[in-house]
Amino acid sequence: MTQDELKKAVAEAALEEVKKIISKDSIIGVGTGSTANFFIDALAEIKLDFDGAVASSEATRERLQAHGINVYDLNGVGTLPVYVDGADEVNPHLHMVKGGGGALTREKIIGAASTKFICIADESKQVDILGTFPLPVEVIPMARSYVARELVKLGANPVYREDFVTDNGNVILDLYNFPIDDPLAMEQRINNITGVVTNGLFALRPADLLLLGCSDGVKSITAV
Ligand code: 5RP
Repeated sequence: MTQDELKKAVAEAALEEVKKIISKDSIIGVGTGSTANFFIDALAEIKLDFDGAVASSEATRERLQAHGINVYDLNGVGTLPVYVDGADEVNPHLHMVKGGGGALTREKIIGAASTKFICIADESKQVDILGTFPLPVEVIPMARSYVARELVKLGANPVYREDFVTDNGNVILDLYNFPIDDPLAMEQRINNITGVVTNGLFALRPADLLLLGCSDGVKSITAV
């Protein structure tokens, strides 16, 4: 199977999970990226069975609306029953690195505001130790150099993501070759640097369920 076929398979598996949770008045959280895009396309098939969605990026908002799915502001809705999103890396505790597409802050907010977080990923994303994929850190623009110096003190090698501005008007520093032994501690440590909006470690709020696309089928995995 190609990687896209694996992504499509996990998107369809996520749709089945979502069907178990939603009702006519449900508003669900929808993530960002190529795997999430397959989920959005699948979700369109059942758009009359729920009220609408909260989008984790402008790109996702546009794709949802193109399918005729209502998009709501998170401030106007309560706790979301379910959030479905991809990941760049996921470990056995269902801690994740996210934000390859730069949508980490809105993704983290929606994850925090959701009862159930379903991560959809192909098997290339499964790792034992997070940090081979560059860890994104969203930073207020005027704090970029200061934050980079503080990240170097943590042993990281921050690289400014050129020509990229987040949906929130901020910049991204990517931390290359930064193996993360203690994701819970590192998530908090990086977030404590003044000028950091958030970082792409999702350990404080991990996924509740991982749907992993493998060549022999989709595996449903909960945290060890
Ligand atoms: C975007 C993300 C995505 O979930 C992550 O980058 C995975 O993307 P893809 O499904 O395209 O591999 O965090 O900010």
